[in-house]
Amino acid sequence: MATNITWHDNLSHEERAALRKQGGATIWFTGLSASGKSTIACALEQALLQRGINSYRLDGDNVRFGLNKDLGFSEADRNENIRRIAEVSKLFADSCTIALTSFISPYKKDRDSARVLHEQGGLPFVEVYVDVPIDVAETRDPKGLYKKAREGIIKEFTGISAPYEAPEKPEIHLKNYGDLTVEQAAQQVIEYLESKKYI
Ligand code: PPS
Repeated sequence: MATNITWHDNLSHEERAALRKQGGATIWFTGLSASGKSTIACALEQALLQRGINSYRLDGDNVRFGLNKDLGFSEADRNENIRRIAEVSKLFADSCTIALTSFISPYKKDRDSARVLHEQGGLPFVEVYVDVPIDVAETRDPKGLYKKAREGIIKEFTGISAPYEAPEKPEIHLKNYGDLTVEQAAQQVIEYLESKKYI
């Protein structure tokens, strides 16, 4: 960490939320590749924006084109990926935006650190587990990545050759197989946010 730096206090989140007439929060989607995280987060973002609620989505693939283009998929790189996203989503939440993050975020300790970071800043953190069994995700395989992982072309692929530690007590557990539609999944999150008065 750099030395000779000074923290500058800003408006508190409560003061900012009162001025903006909207508070912020981070909705943290986690799940296997092809579980539907991004699709559900997209639908939720649309629904929130249509209600006039400021919302912004940070997506695994997209963020790796820019902010995190120096990172790969080793455990250390995934730790750093999630650490940066936790910091960025906290800034979005503090700015009175509903930040939607869709990253595999396979390690419990990284997700817990993201939660603690938000809690320390007095910002709501909602973990949403998009739960799909690995065989279902592998059958979907929209990007052909599971096939490549099985063939050994992609190393350290989550669920095949790298771990996924499922959340034990997520705020929301979406079983995204069977008959749950994208709209129903997004609606479930909206109802939770309303019940907590986050929106
Ligand atoms: S992580 O684990 O949270 O750091 O991963 P994330 O930033 O969400 O990036 C996941 C997307 O990267 C693609 N991809 C891989 N995923 C898992 N393991 C390996 N080895 C890998 N290589 C590339 C894949 O498209 C993931 O997107 P989703 O949307 O999850 O399918």
